[in-house]
Amino acid sequence: MTEWRIRCPDLDAEWSAEDGESLLESAERAGIGLLSSCRNGTCRACMCRLIAGEVRYRIEWPGLSREEKAEGWVLPCVAEPISDGVVEPLTVVKLFQKTLFPQPSD
Ligand code: FES
Repeated sequence: MTEWRIRCPDLDAEWSAEDGESLLESAERAGIGLLSSCRNGTCRACMCRLIAGEVRYRIEWPGLSREEKAEGWVLPCVAEPISDGVVEPLTVVKLFQKTLFPQPSD
């Protein structure tokens, strides 16, 4: 059975994903709680940036624009790794940006 190594430096986490397992499922199996809701590629709550690696999708049209895909955004609930990878959860990105670039409304 193929296993991929997935790292999330922002959470100081590393785990394995089995072939056919979504990024979200593998993270949860490892005890890492990524944000999620619908778990079917619709709501975008789980959105992460794939810094390195490749995924394939379980569904034909995951809820991402072509531009978002080109920028490396993925939906872990329906994205299955097909290589080792590095992910950055959107919530971490937002917190990082909010810390470095606070907006007047913050
Ligand atoms: S949990 Fe809704 S798109 Fe992933």
